[in-house]
Amino acid sequence: MKLTIIGTGYVGLVTGACFAEMGNTVTCVDIDRSKIDGLKKGVLPIYEPGLESVVANNYKNGRLQFCSSLCDPAAESSVYFIAVGTPPGEDGSADLQYVQAVAKDIGQHINHYTVVVDKSTVPVGTADKVRAVIQAELEKRAKNVSFDVVSNPEFLKEGAAVEDFMRPDRVVIGTDSEKARQVMRDLYGPFMRTHERILFMGVRDAEMTKYAGNAMLATKISFMNEIANLCERMGVDVENVRQGIGSDSRIGYSFIYPGAGYGGSCFPKDVKALVRMAKDHNFEPKVLNAVESRNEAQKHVLIEKIRKRFGADLKNKKFGLWGLAFKPGTDDMREASSVVLLHGLIGAGATVKAYDPVATEAAKRELPREWFADGKLTLVENQYDALKDADGMILITEWKPFRHPDFAQIKKIMKSPIIFDGRNQYDPKSLREAGFEYTGIGR
Ligand SMILES: NC(=O)c1ccc[n+]([C@@H]2O[C@H](COP(=O)([O-])OP(=O)(O)OC[C@H]3O[C@@H](n4cnc5c(N)ncnc54)[C@H](O)[C@@H]3O)[C@@H](O)[C@H]2O)c1
Repeated sequence: MKLTIIGTGYVGLVTGACFAEMGNTVTCVDIDRSKIDGLKKGVLPIYEPGLESVVANNYKNGRLQFCSSLCDPAAESSVYFIAVGTPPGEDGSADLQYVQAVAKDIGQHINHYTVVVDKSTVPVGTADKVRAVIQAELEKRAKNVSFDVVSNPEFLKEGAAVEDFMRPDRVVIGTDSEKARQVMRDLYGPFMRTHERILFMGVRDAEMTKYAGNAMLATKISFMNEIANLCERMGVDVENVRQGIGSDSRIGYSFIYPGAGYGGSCFPKDVKALVRMAKDHNFEPKVLNAVESRNEAQKHVLIEKIRKRFGADLKNKKFGLWGLAFKPGTDDMREASSVVLLHGLIGAGATVKAYDPVATEAAKRELPREWFADGKLTLVENQYDALKDADGMILITEWKPFRHPDFAQIKKIMKSPIIFDGRNQYDPKSLREAGFEYTGIGR
């Protein structure tokens, strides 16, 4: 099949590359010309394990092409995926300007039956808006072209995106058109060799499924963070509690790790957008409000602990930070807890040396330039270099090389052996026995 994917970010590039890998001819489009120029030279705009080789192989054999606008190969496509960003607007609602711009582009280009797929995370009712925009453009062109708008939300996880796309738990497809249903079944068939995992439903149901899924996961995290904070005040070991409740199959172990709050490009914005949808329907989302406010507060827990230990004024204090990305496996720093922490530390006068295995370039792009210019923040290339002469070590992203480090070396190179563990990666007892001062989340 010939496909066009519009928006070549985390979702669009993975979607395009994986469909090409299954034998489809795919054109990936992005208005960011530097991304497209880079991709044509083999430079990926994002870090995602396993993606580079899939992109390179399919680009080489001609199944994957890159364009900065809806170019000629795209015109032959029978399926257009919309995979552009839907960032939060001022009022928390998903900003649909990019989706609508793409819908307009599509309406100006299509000449034969087309399935238009909303893969971006979009509020309930967006497919109708996309349909109206395309139809208006077709009318301007006096074209009578039939098309369907399908909702196909994406559930991939950054850091495991290729694996998730190739072996999805489920593929949700919202459509009431039999023709579109068949096209989508054909497209996803190769990913379902062992058993069928496509869930067909109404368009609005599919749109809501994505928000409900992310909100549920965010709820588990915020719930556990709340329990952790309570445990700390009551002399309870939250790690034992986590294991105790995770063993209940109705609860499960995933997404119940206490930590310094969730970040990333999805959970924060999707919870906000769902809250907005509820408000627009005169419904007070009490649980979602609480999930969000716990998370906002949770991102400040570490800095509060640091201030409690060192005082509010952190001038002349040096910290070594392990991790910058919002989670391991990605270079994405959108809404990362590290950013809130850095503002707290540097705002209170501290200097920071930070190490992240892949997010260094993202940090240079996204963090205030004056931090680097004024020597407030230095990015280092070795995890131990971040800790030299430091008053405290802070772990904020649980990358694997941080799990079992050389504590003897750490103790030797730090000014004072104090650890703030924002993801509860270490055993407090053994660290305290080894002469460290240890503070985790909820402990
Ligand atoms: N990142 C994730 O883990 C993830 C997972 C599931 C769903 N989603 C959803 O998928 C959507 C995309 O997310 P992302 O993380 O890939 O975003 P991203 O910011 O990485 O990529 C979006 C891309 O769209 C491009 N773009 C914007 N307007 C365009 C236009 N008019 N024409 C062509 N390209 C245009 C941008 O230049 C950018 O490269 C969002 O709605 C997001 O919520 C993301």
